[in-house]
Amino acid sequence: MSSSCSSDQAFVTLATNDNYAKGAMVLGKSLKNHKTSRKLVALVGPHVSDPSREVLRQIYDEVRLVDVLDSGDTAHLAMMKRPDLGVTFTKLHCWTLTHYSKCVFMDADTLVLSNIDELFDREELSAAPDPGWPDCFNSGVFVFRPSNETYGKLLQYCTEHGSFDGGDQGVLNGFFSNWSTADITKHLPFIYNMSSIAIYTYLPAFKQYGANAKVVHFLGQTKPWSYTYDPKERRVRGDTHEASSHPSFLLQWWALYSSSVVPMLQAAYGDQPFLSGCEEELSQIAHLAPPPMSSEERKQKWEQGQADYMGIDSFDNIQKKLDAFLK
Ligand code: UDP
Ligand code: GLC
Ligand code: MN
Repeated sequence: MSSSCSSDQAFVTLATNDNYAKGAMVLGKSLKNHKTSRKLVALVGPHVSDPSREVLRQIYDEVRLVDVLDSGDTAHLAMMKRPDLGVTFTKLHCWTLTHYSKCVFMDADTLVLSNIDELFDREELSAAPDPGWPDCFNSGVFVFRPSNETYGKLLQYCTEHGSFDGGDQGVLNGFFSNWSTADITKHLPFIYNMSSIAIYTYLPAFKQYGANAKVVHFLGQTKPWSYTYDPKERRVRGDTHEASSHPSFLLQWWALYSSSVVPMLQAAYGDQPFLSGCEEELSQIAHLAPPPMSSEERKQKWEQGQADYMGIDSFDNIQKKLDAFLK
């Protein structure tokens, strides 16, 4: 039962880069703060830096290096406007953790708000409905049983059928295709994977039930680490429209990150440069940045083919301009 201490059961997450690694650190801390009795496993890709791995090793019982699998399915991913999600195929590696009998996978962009060890009472494949298409499950939180046989079948499924969304969620819903109708005990309540978009898709329900949420999922392109944070004022800055859609959860994420994770990262990075995303450091480095260009200077640079593609003329900024213009 969930209350017993089962060392052959684990929470598992994945990070293929240092940003998602920050998410994994906060997730691991949140699981520990809520006193999970289960093991913690982080799967990491080869691009996660040594200092990040060192911090992950302090929080997680096991940090395992995995190959990055990529769907390479740009057409489907473009349809979801998320060209970055092909690497989520890497998630399928979690089935190879056969030294555990049962696991709960959690995306690195999830945050645990209370103890959720009772999830281990559930069977494979248990998951919560996806808010966009509730007959599909969301693959940000799911209960599974590691098995090399299942892993092999999943890879075979990928080769034969691909993924209808280009990412792991499409594969997993194709593979566990009777999830929506077969067994209601495999439907996790939404409070175990409350995506923050529910706040604006169904605000009254959020007001009524939001306080019961046990796991919040920062689903979508803008992640907690995409913002900056002012620890003195306890305020998050960035795209205010999105930030305002999940304000208190975002603040909780940042409070945990800045108080518990940043000091560990600073120690691990030592003399090497490290940007935490907290604002004091941004004001410290602001004087090192070149002074802002006038729009005339910028236009000239454009015309000379010297656009600042990494900065003000980045694809994101151009897209924002276009969106604003089209509205
Ligand atoms: N992920 C990763 N590197 C990436 C993209 C995704 O490690 O470049 C992992 C990470 O665990 C992440 C999960 O795959 O939480 C699913 O991606 P994401 O959370 O961005 O998808 P969303 O929930 O927004 O659809
Ligand atoms: C989803 C899930 C995420 C998954 C992605 C790609 O939106 O939240 O966990 O990796 O789709 O399929
Ligand atoms: Mn996610």
